[in-house]
Amino acid sequence: MELTHIEHIGIATPNIEEAIPYYENVLGLKCYNIEVVEDQKVRTAFFKIGQTKLELLEPTSPESTIAKFIEKNGGRGGVHHIAFATPSVQASLEDAAAKGVALIDKAPRGGAEGLNIAFLHPKSTCGVLTEICENPNLK
Ligand code: CO
Repeated sequence: MELTHIEHIGIATPNIEEAIPYYENVLGLKCYNIEVVEDQKVRTAFFKIGQTKLELLEPTSPESTIAKFIEKNGGRGGVHHIAFATPSVQASLEDAAAKGVALIDKAPRGGAEGLNIAFLHPKSTCGVLTEICENPNLK
């Protein structure tokens, strides 16, 4: 699989507005985008540090996997997934599948910020929920 850098780290939070002051006032980062991703039942807030982003994820429904993750983490949230950038999500998925990795997404789908994304199953990734993503605007 060809990966170029860590695209973002996904962090679950019960409330984006309550989390933003920590990232802005303590870490000195700037929230530059807030976006709802209906497909994943989340509202996201983005910060950039170098070429890597932090993606805060707030559930928009109790059915959201993020809501369940927060519940399991004592209501506070925490690090949820790590996302790697790749020139091709499709090629990366094929490569991972050929190596016996369990896939959550068998094909790329649309994610926040116009990226094409797919998730690998944590049972095949040493327990870390892993996202791979490609920026179609770079092509
Ligand atoms: Co993500």
